[in-house]
Amino acid sequence: MPEPRPDIRPEPRLQIKNLSRFYEGRAVVNDVSLTVQPGQVTCLLGPSGCGKSTTLRLIAGVDHQDQGEVYVDGQLICDGASTVPPEARSIGLMFQDFALFPHLNVAQNVGFGVSGSKADKRQRVLALLKRMGLMHHAKDYPHQLSGGEQQRVALARSLAPRPKIMLMDEPFSGLDNRLRDGIRDETLEVLKEEGAAVLLVTHEPEEAMRMADEIALMRDGQIIQQGAPYNVYNAPADKQAAAFFSDINVITGTVHGALTDTAFGQFLAPGVPDGTKVDIVIRPQHIKIDFDRHGRGPNPTPQDGTPARGVVERARFMGNESLVEFRMDFDGSVMKATIPSVFLPKAGTALWLMIRRDRCFVFNHSKTRPA
Ligand SMILES: Nc1ncnc2c1ncn2[C@@H]1O[C@H](COP(=O)(O)OP(=O)(O)OP(=O)(O)O)[C@@H](O)[C@H]1O
Ligand SMILES: [Mg+2]
Repeated sequence: MPEPRPDIRPEPRLQIKNLSRFYEGRAVVNDVSLTVQPGQVTCLLGPSGCGKSTTLRLIAGVDHQDQGEVYVDGQLICDGASTVPPEARSIGLMFQDFALFPHLNVAQNVGFGVSGSKADKRQRVLALLKRMGLMHHAKDYPHQLSGGEQQRVALARSLAPRPKIMLMDEPFSGLDNRLRDGIRDETLEVLKEEGAAVLLVTHEPEEAMRMADEIALMRDGQIIQQGAPYNVYNAPADKQAAAFFSDINVITGTVHGALTDTAFGQFLAPGVPDGTKVDIVIRPQHIKIDFDRHGRGPNPTPQDGTPARGVVERARFMGNESLVEFRMDFDGSVMKATIPSVFLPKAGTALWLMIRRDRCFVFNHSKTRPA
């Protein structure tokens, strides 16, 4: 048998091409394209109202796009004109507003869409109830369950028919923190084992980073960046993309000779024309802190630049780390830094801040101060 050629990617299980949806003349989904391979999880991540659920509804076939196509295993299932009905798409759905069948017990709810022999069906249902921690509720009816338990039944029910593609809209949001991690891991394991392509909507970056093979970051109906969580976090497309994953600090400067002068020393801005205003963006965890030595900080270094002094305005203990807000001497602005929680400086303490050059991002200046 010939070796598979490494340059040929397997057919994507799910492919959407240039999908757009207009409501009242406004593009709520605007030219969205993505692919998901079998056994892969892509997270659609973005703020409220950016078009995540609408994208999922178009793929599921419960809403219809104005432009673009959806393919499953290379087969066109809908374009602007024709469409395969939702029930014929081999797509599993787990939406936030799931509804269980009230007249069926938990085991019957989970087994509802499963085909095959009675024994196969029973085995499948039992296996899923076990993985979801629902064995002792098998004979209960939905009204006898808590909200989180109902959500787990709905998850098990959506997994049961072994869908080729699973679309999930904030599927774990109703579960308490203690349960959530376990249920999340079990659910993904089942889906990966069975080679499903998963498109999962969330507005929580931590959830996306934990679960996704790939993150598609959405804003105003468009995908503005797509890639592995590591890349999206460490090489954000712009200031807002950086701000979506953590608090950020922004220092504004003007470029002269491919360099920007700031109170923290010079920053490289290669290829940026003279006179361009730039934003230097730094996450709080990439600020280094040093003690005050009679009004002086550590010596400047090529990696960390020049230190700038700030006075602690507020310090909050967060468990793993402390979040410290500084009022900076050079312009009175506030900068945030996270530091190991063994250290919780008192308000009024003067400290010196440094910015790691390998961890900051330089973007053309934009007015939008992210929320
Ligand atoms: N049927 C509709 N008619 C008109 N506008 C709609 C309709 N459905 C959604 N919208 C609008 O489309 C935009 C995107 O909605 P969508 O539900 O896709 O957002 P979302 O990203 O899922 O947000 P959230 O995180 O809050 O669930 C919103 O501004 C919403 O008001
Ligand atoms: Mg939504």
